[in-house]
Amino acid sequence: MSGIGKVTAGAPRSVRVSGWGSYVPERVLSNADLERLVDTSDEWIRTRTGIRERRVAAPHETTATLGAIAAKRAIATAGLEPEDIDVIVVATLTPDYPMPSTAALVKEAIGNSSAAAFDIAAACSGFVFGYATADSYVRSGLARHVLVVGAELLTRFLDFEDRGTCILFGDGAGAVVLSGSDEPGGGMAGLEMTTDPDGAYMIWLPSGGSRSPASAETARRGEHFIRMEGRETYRYATRTLATSALTAIEKAGWTPDQVDLFIPHQANIRIIEAVAKGLRLPLDRFFVNIDRYGNTSAASVGIALDEAVAEGRVKVGDKLVFVAFGAGFTSGAIALEWTADPTDRLRAASVEPVASVRAPLDWSSVDPIPPRLAAVLDDPNGPPVPLDDVVPGEPAHAHTEEPS
Ligand code: UT7
Repeated sequence: MSGIGKVTAGAPRSVRVSGWGSYVPERVLSNADLERLVDTSDEWIRTRTGIRERRVAAPHETTATLGAIAAKRAIATAGLEPEDIDVIVVATLTPDYPMPSTAALVKEAIGNSSAAAFDIAAACSGFVFGYATADSYVRSGLARHVLVVGAELLTRFLDFEDRGTCILFGDGAGAVVLSGSDEPGGGMAGLEMTTDPDGAYMIWLPSGGSRSPASAETARRGEHFIRMEGRETYRYATRTLATSALTAIEKAGWTPDQVDLFIPHQANIRIIEAVAKGLRLPLDRFFVNIDRYGNTSAASVGIALDEAVAEGRVKVGDKLVFVAFGAGFTSGAIALEWTADPTDRLRAASVEPVASVRAPLDWSSVDPIPPRLAAVLDDPNGPPVPLDDVVPGEPAHAHTEEPS
């Protein structure tokens, strides 16, 4: 029996963030590493995007295992047990499989037996959309504790011959737990969510769906990689981030200068600078960590929140704004009042950064690391990787072993 739907308990007086956590893989991929793969430079990437490095998941890691580690940290921070979670929502555009949901696998990995678990597909806005979904379940009294995870393993969906996309993205996961409280106030005060299908093909991944099922032909065409119209997306982002944030702030009855900290989706430092300028606020009112992780899509707001709290940038009573945009085009913003004791995060210190999900007994995956990326990871000081060095679909190295 699931833990959801016991409405007799009644609706809580408020819905608050009770736990938060994140996880990024250990392996760093620097701009210098990317210089060996495509015609780019550290200087171009830093000045045009603000990115210095990003993380790459190890071969044994998947989106679900990244998400499960962030989830375990968030649950520990909340002072809860995995079994206390009634609903698990995972936002991702890089699921372990098209089905089952990554949320089902996160549920297994964290050791929860009763939660309802499902995924949200809203690309980089997924964490905000997931938060809004979770808030609704708790606010209505249908669930007491809802886990929201944004997790991405983007480096396995990138064309490492396309300099327009492969320099931007990285891997990681962030999570929050939303819980009902008997105390009034706090939590979400304003919400804005939009979707503009005119932008549907500005960022997309063509194959693997009903329009174009995966086949040798789609692989030959490279249609299993993320495609993006960078300039159009940039234009949309600068417009929509500011308007979404402003709308959520107005719905909360606040003004922009009252917001203590904006935690924006980390897509490009120039986009964040433009939004700060548009709202007539100094850049230090915006949390930025894109330099270390690149764009981690649905994971970015959750990772940034965890780091902002750890760095002492968030205090009880602070007014925060989470704001994101992404493929779809989707955008979303949440204006919320922070109520949790930042030192609660110390409860997660003992959570080991490991998680695993069973694989079917009679099946094993192919080498998950894209061959050109593997060539750089396996030989960190090697020469540039020529474009015809590795045949697509033929991994340069076997990467199927589990960690010892
Ligand atoms: O989560 C949402 C996902 N996506 C985004 O938020 C992306 C939004 N877009 C952007 O962040 C920017 O558009 C990019 C970072 C992707 C590109 O920056 P840009 O300043 O818009 O560059 P551009 O596309 O206008 O290209 C300028 C030049 C071009 O050369 P030419 O035509 O002027 O000779 C590109 O070919 O820069 C070239 N270029 C590069 N050069 C070196 C494009 N990518 C690279 C690269 N290294 N990696």
